[in-house]
Amino acid sequence: MKIGVLVGGGDAPGLNAAIKATVSKAHEIGYDVVGIKNGWAGLLELDTQPLSIDDVEEIHSRGGVVLYTSRTNPFKIENGPKQVIANMKKLKVDALVVMGGEDTLGVALKLSEMGVQVVGVPKTIDNDLGGTDYSIGFDTAVAIATDAIDKLRTTAEAHHRIVIVEVMGRNTGWIALHAGLAGGANLTLIPEVPLGLNQVYGLLKFRKQNGKAYSIIVVAEGARVLKEKEQILVATEERDEFGHPRLGGISRVLEKLIRENTGLEVRSVILGHLQRGGPPTAFDRILAMRLANKAVELIKEKRFGEMASFKACDIVSVPLKEVLAGRKSVPPELYEMAKTFFR
Ligand code: F6P
Repeated sequence: MKIGVLVGGGDAPGLNAAIKATVSKAHEIGYDVVGIKNGWAGLLELDTQPLSIDDVEEIHSRGGVVLYTSRTNPFKIENGPKQVIANMKKLKVDALVVMGGEDTLGVALKLSEMGVQVVGVPKTIDNDLGGTDYSIGFDTAVAIATDAIDKLRTTAEAHHRIVIVEVMGRNTGWIALHAGLAGGANLTLIPEVPLGLNQVYGLLKFRKQNGKAYSIIVVAEGARVLKEKEQILVATEERDEFGHPRLGGISRVLEKLIRENTGLEVRSVILGHLQRGGPPTAFDRILAMRLANKAVELIKEKRFGEMASFKACDIVSVPLKEVLAGRKSVPPELYEMAKTFFR
């Protein structure tokens, strides 16, 4: 048995630990592993690299992905899926371990329905993938955002200013909510719950009148703000191969509106790709290792079309079809709990 391993979509801290664990478990069983470079692009272009036990020994603590990644969608390329299948044969790859979020695993599901032997590993700092409580990279992103909030608090306080911290989260507010809670934000704005601007101004003025001259607002990049009847979302016109615009900049819009409407001093900080960089937390390393180990077990048991998943602290498996049936949003009760700290 020869396994191919690939990563698609945005990188996420912990992926190298997952690659290490894939190779280690495969080695234990007696399978060969080949690394496919740059996500699905590597299968279309036959761009691979051998992965031995020695190659992966020291990669668990490194950020990035040793195999590189891309947002290539073979279903957007003429004969792309056929090419993937033909190249798997050329490479003598019997099964694939695919590490990704909804886009990459969406491709894996379609290929699996065409007969490709594939298993999934959940990866996205956004943590919005269905079928799993946590995905690789989320914990590190929250730790980085929390650390940033802690630092921004001291400068905000020193200058009696409002600081708006913008974090990633295209469709969901998982990072914003967790970092906002851990960092003691006075207000957190998430895509799931559009808030009116008057509520935002009201809270800031109330704090000021009650002797709190500074405030910390956390906003997810995909949050929608309501300006009267208009919903403001900041996104580019241009789309990637999966149809997503690039987000980022809602904090700048909020900064201007808050300044104009409250007269308060405001600054905004977009954390951006810092949240995906650097070494993974211990939690992410271990999560990644457990998930990848399970993925190789799924191959051994011929349970193709399934994804290794983390549920209630256990590693289980879920059919990819179920994983992709719906995005995992922040539950209303969690946001309600966070709201008790909005003051
Ligand atoms: O999907 C993960 C993510 O980090 C999103 O939070 C963000 O919107 C997007 O990727 C950014 O993508 P890129 O790295 O292509 O700019």
